[in-house]
Amino acid sequence: MAEILPIGGGKGGVGKSFISANLAALLARRGRRVVLLDLDLGGSNLHTFLGIRTPRDGINSFLNKNINSLELAAVPTQISNLAFISSVHCPIDIANLWHAQKAKLINAIRRLPFDYVLLDIGAGTHFNTLDFYLTAEKGIIVCAPEPTSIENAFRFIKAAYLRKIKLIIKQHAFHPKVKDAVVDAAQQQLGAAEIFDIVVRYDPGREMLLRESISRFQFKFVLNQVRKNGDPLLGEKMKNVCNRHFSSQFHFLGNIAYDERVSDSIVSKTLFTVQYPDAAASADLAAIAGQLNQKKSVSQRLCEVP
Ligand SMILES: Nc1ncnc2c1ncn2[C@@H]1O[C@H](COP(=O)(O)OP(=O)(O)O)[C@@H](O)[C@H]1O
Ligand SMILES: [Mg+2]
Repeated sequence: MAEILPIGGGKGGVGKSFISANLAALLARRGRRVVLLDLDLGGSNLHTFLGIRTPRDGINSFLNKNINSLELAAVPTQISNLAFISSVHCPIDIANLWHAQKAKLINAIRRLPFDYVLLDIGAGTHFNTLDFYLTAEKGIIVCAPEPTSIENAFRFIKAAYLRKIKLIIKQHAFHPKVKDAVVDAAQQQLGAAEIFDIVVRYDPGREMLLRESISRFQFKFVLNQVRKNGDPLLGEKMKNVCNRHFSSQFHFLGNIAYDERVSDSIVSKTLFTVQYPDAAASADLAAIAGQLNQKKSVSQRLCEVP
């Protein structure tokens, strides 16, 4: 089964697309079959990072039933083993995708026949953005070491966490009072703690199910655009704060150095790690790809045990 890696973070301009494109290429160069999806439906630009000038219609063709499988929307890239699915031809209001279309797309993403499926997620906390992020049991959070970016990352985590709790409750036979509370949660401004209180009160037998399900979800931090004088412990500190406040698991994958040549690589439509393989930022990205790939190798080895 493919390992799905959604890459979000709440704020625009922090480097989600830069990291998605380069991590996908690095995993592909390790011999994995990788597909990269542009799920920033209102602001697709991932093709430019890959040097694709006129991307073929991808997600839009699939949603409009011009093709009957999402796999057919994947096009090869200049990197061997790396395919790409664009959303650039989706209509302007596509970020408001209706429920059936979103469910169809998410189900199709889960069935893509690759080793890795990387999802470049848009900014903000719209529920469609959160649902793309929650396609798998883990997701990457990209954050720049600036207060605005950290604020937006925490806001995104809080929203994704709450959305995950609601999805778990909707998928299971919780007491009607719990289901009603979740449906009305936005109006009543209920947070995760209030929802847990309602579960304890009306459906104590399922409290454990909720806690175990939410504790399986993993958020993996990446700090991008880190300058030499930055706080070297910021990523670990963010991880520790989140582990204290939420029941999900938080990990820190590492820093990616700020490099002014990132902009040059985007202008010349060449992947940064291809153009500047010896840069510190390329080494940082390679180390993160190595960590992600290592976990895959361990789980693959476990599957191979007779
Ligand atoms: N490590 C980095 N060093 C320097 N600039 C970066 C780095 N990562 C991203 N950038 C800059 O930030 C801009 C936004 O990156 P992008 O990946 O498009 O963000 P997002 O997808 O989160 O909106 C890029 O145009 C690039 O110039
Ligand atoms: Mg982007």
